[in-house]
Amino acid sequence: MTRSRLLAPLAVTAALVAGTALAAGPRDTLLAGYAAAAGAPASAARGEAFFTATHAGGKPDTPSCTACHGTDPRSAGRTRAGKPIEPMAVSANPARFTDPDKVEKWFRRNCNSVLGRECSAAEKADVIAWLAGR
Ligand code: HEC
Repeated sequence: MTRSRLLAPLAVTAALVAGTALAAGPRDTLLAGYAAAAGAPASAARGEAFFTATHAGGKPDTPSCTACHGTDPRSAGRTRAGKPIEPMAVSANPARFTDPDKVEKWFRRNCNSVLGRECSAAEKADVIAWLAGR
């Protein structure tokens, strides 16, 4: 076996390992995308205020994100029908905000329920920034 035939696969493996270590995870990528669309860095403090606030414009029985998700993001929430909802805090539920389709689907549905409109990119970035650090 020649030296180059032996070393080439090693070089590819090394590049893959380095690439994996450097690449941001799906949650970081999603958050960065929302912040870029918002044109401003995300704020965890704003995200907490938004998530726990009582809003007008949505359905009367869901004036807040906490109406279903609960006030402690590390604990399970409950749907209006009483079905449990897994915690929103990433420390308690590492799968949160890792599937862009799921994140978009539920932001759309839930923001419409609570606010009567879609959430802005800034609001999405702020909420994820808060819950990623909780
Ligand atoms: C009517 C009940 C209800 C309300 C109110 C509600 N949610 Fe949810 N939310 C759910 C359910 C049910 C799911 C899907 C089940 C799950 O992911 O555990 C979900 C999931 C999500 C997800 C998906 C997260 C992921 O990656 O897994 C996001 C984002 C989200 N909600 C954001 C919000 C925000 C922001 C608000 C307030 C504007 C809000 N929700 C209000 C019920 C609600």
